Amino acid sequence: MRKRLTMNRLSGALALLVSAVLHAGPSLSSAEAVTYRFGTQFTRPDNVPYPAYNPPSKAKLELGRRLFFDRRLSGADSLSCATCHKPAFAWTDRRPSSRGETGEALPRRTPPLQDVAWNEMFARDGRIETLEGFVLGPIRHPKEMNQDLSRLPAELAAVPAYATLHEDIFGNGPFTLDGIALSLGAYVRTLRSSTAPFDRWIAGDETALSPAAKDGFALFTGRAGCADCHAGWRFTDQRFHDIGLVTDDRGRGILLPDDVAMQFAFKTPSLRNVAIRPPYMHDGSLQTLEAVLDHYQSGFRTRPSLSPRIQAPDLSAQEKVNVIEFLKSLTDDKRMNHLPDHGSGSQN
Ligand code: HEC
Ligand code: HEC
Repeated sequence: MRKRLTMNRLSGALALLVSAVLHAGPSLSSAEAVTYRFGTQFTRPDNVPYPAYNPPSKAKLELGRRLFFDRRLSGADSLSCATCHKPAFAWTDRRPSSRGETGEALPRRTPPLQDVAWNEMFARDGRIETLEGFVLGPIRHPKEMNQDLSRLPAELAAVPAYATLHEDIFGNGPFTLDGIALSLGAYVRTLRSSTAPFDRWIAGDETALSPAAKDGFALFTGRAGCADCHAGWRFTDQRFHDIGLVTDDRGRGILLPDDVAMQFAFKTPSLRNVAIRPPYMHDGSLQTLEAVLDHYQSGFRTRPSLSPRIQAPDLSAQEKVNVIEFLKSLTDDKRMNHLPDHGSGSQN
């Protein structure tokens, strides 16, 4: 208790100091003010983290890349990872639900694969702990790639280029499932979002964002409460929340049936490149960013598991437009030409 009080006093004193500096010193540019308030929280890291058990090498990344785009990974050689995780759409397929080899719709929408090297958990419900532990799942799953894993190594070993690469990486033992998982994992770690207007702005380029987008960022991190969950440079806290969608899918609640707060809870998605990959949410139930803003304002369902951070922010029509302008500023510079037309409510 005493500690809490001291902390409060300390932060009170700091706030005074900050306001004194702000009023006395030369006025800060809007980008400097962001750094002042948030430190490096929103700054993109330079290097991709690799776990000690899977260091990258040129041959491994090459094998991983080729496997990712190779239809031989599916049982009937009909789909590759990229069938659902399409490079042009930030590694999603822009469909409300994806279809695997059997043509049956999957219950959850394909998530983007950019920046997953920073994930603490995988899948929308966080059921898998590592990337390398995840990647054989879609290959084996009957509704996804429907492959017999016991036959896959031999099938791939018969491709001379693969056999050579596998030997370069892992020595001259047999082609293994581990080798496939490590190579795919190493490659998927290289899939990154790139610099976006937002990044150029916080690095000091005041012209990179429109006044509307800057106001949108202030709302996002302030009154609208979005950054309570969409925090950090990827705009995710990597936690699970029920945001009140109308759905039968209990999300993380399937793994934790006794945890009230985890019912209907899904992982907070990154918002990098969000504007180019509608529809939104685990089930693709919201078609546009406008619909997402309306959901947070008044469209959510109240139930025991609803996150207390869902606070129905009172945003004017113009403020919603500004938040969306900010979200669009998270689109990679090189992808700007893929922006769908949000005004018309169409998906493409
Ligand atoms: C039929 C479509 C489809 C194919 C093919 C597919 N995926 Fe996915 N992928 C999905 C869906 C749907 C999810 C979400 C699953 C969930 O959350 O329960 C997903 C999730 C992921 C994730 C977790 C991402 C995260 O942020 O948690 C990774 C990693 C991934 N896939 C990699 C791959 C790789 C590698 C391949 C090829 C071996 C592949 N996927 C093939 C549809 C597909
Ligand atoms: C309580 C935490 C929380 C708050 C507050 C929050 N979000 Fe979310 N957001 C989530 C979660 C969790 C999801 C994924 C839900 C799902 O998939 O079913 C999500 C999904 C989204 C998506 C869809 C992304 C995608 O890839 O499908 C957008 C866009 C979004 N939020 C924007 C916002 C904005 C703008 C605000 C503020 C008005 C906000 N969020 C407030 C947790 C939150």
